[in-house]
Amino acid sequence: MKVLVTGGAGFIGGHTVELLLARGYAVRVLDALLPPVHPSPAWPIWLPNAVERQQGDVRDRAALAAALRGVEAVIHLAAYQDYLPDFSTFFHTNAVGTALIYEIAVAERLPLQRVVVASSQAVYGEGWYDCGRDGPQYPPPRPREQLERGEWDPRCPRCGAAMRWRPTGEERVDPHNQYALSKYTAERIALVLGARWEIPSVALRYSITQGRRQSFTNAYSGILRSFTLRLLTGRRPVVYEDGQQVRDYVFVEDVARATVLALEDPRLVGRAWNVGSGRPTTVLEYAERLARYLGVDLPPELPGLYRAGDTRHIVSDISAIRALGWEPTADLDTIIADYVEWARQQPALQDHYDTALRTMLASGTLRRVGG
Ligand SMILES: NC(=O)c1ccc[n+]([C@@H]2O[C@H](COP(=O)([O-])OP(=O)(O)OC[C@H]3O[C@@H](n4cnc5c(N)ncnc54)[C@H](O)[C@@H]3O)[C@@H](O)[C@H]2O)c1
Repeated sequence: MKVLVTGGAGFIGGHTVELLLARGYAVRVLDALLPPVHPSPAWPIWLPNAVERQQGDVRDRAALAAALRGVEAVIHLAAYQDYLPDFSTFFHTNAVGTALIYEIAVAERLPLQRVVVASSQAVYGEGWYDCGRDGPQYPPPRPREQLERGEWDPRCPRCGAAMRWRPTGEERVDPHNQYALSKYTAERIALVLGARWEIPSVALRYSITQGRRQSFTNAYSGILRSFTLRLLTGRRPVVYEDGQQVRDYVFVEDVARATVLALEDPRLVGRAWNVGSGRPTTVLEYAERLARYLGVDLPPELPGLYRAGDTRHIVSDISAIRALGWEPTADLDTIIADYVEWARQQPALQDHYDTALRTMLASGTLRRVGG
């Protein structure tokens, strides 16, 4: 079977392509090789030679149609991911690009046996909490005045009491930003049009994915990159809020396995699935484990900064996909080791955090407690 992987020259794409080849699939990649992931418009050197390459944009109908002809399945990973306020770009790339796959498949009667669409844990917004008094709650984004006072945890929207965060299942979404909205739209396009036009489709909501070859230049690639670069260049990692925010870090090879499972197992068709570690980790714990692994004594800095619109705690409940036999295999130390050993081999490591910090403060993306 030949599989088209859009965004196959990216981080998750590269690992997925390797697994597909190992399992005997023929693979074609459509990738626009866009910055910041690709600082130069060249194919990454690690992309296996066996991959058929097509440089092109998923928003370009002719390029996408050419890529779709002759394949039996699509893994759709190409996406715009950033924190920038160019809202329409998120929808053009993530929603329109997805709709075009179905438009072309229907118009040309392409024999697609599966479309797997990458969605995100971001669709859950603040996720769900249990209020001892009022039961399950889905809090809205934390108000700016609350964050300016340095009060980090969401309060019960009904009674104002403290609540307990809970792992988030797939039932209810509440996208809070342009990226999350565009991802949720993409998965609805895939699942609704897929069912209507008999193109078996699956959406996967990945948690924060980590591992080797995670871009150094992509702001979206998160704390593993930014903390590692700080620590390897002798600086303390900068932690936002109080560092007690809980996250769900999943290994990229586990994500690639789930993605290939969605391609192969018909039981996944027709719905969205969480793909995460199911394991809560605080940002502070992450920074400490990373420093321990690197053998450096550089404790995190907590300068009283917060990111506007950030989620406080989010961990995916992965019991649904687990029940089908998929398990995350890598613990946090394995993820850290995999990335750090790769990062150490990269030439001219540079930490651009101080410049990024100034830009984020100037644009209001990052704010100080006290206003
Ligand atoms: N990495 C994560 O933590 C994470 C978490 C949740 C969801 N996801 C989703 O998983 C998918 C893959 O993420 P990733 O981390 O590998 O991202 P990445 O940025 O490393 O790779 C994305 C690839 O898509 C390509 N691309 C971007 N826009 C394109 C366009 N318009 N046309 C063609 N190619 C284009 C880029 O050049 C890049 O090679 C994305 O859909 C992302 O939204 C990722």
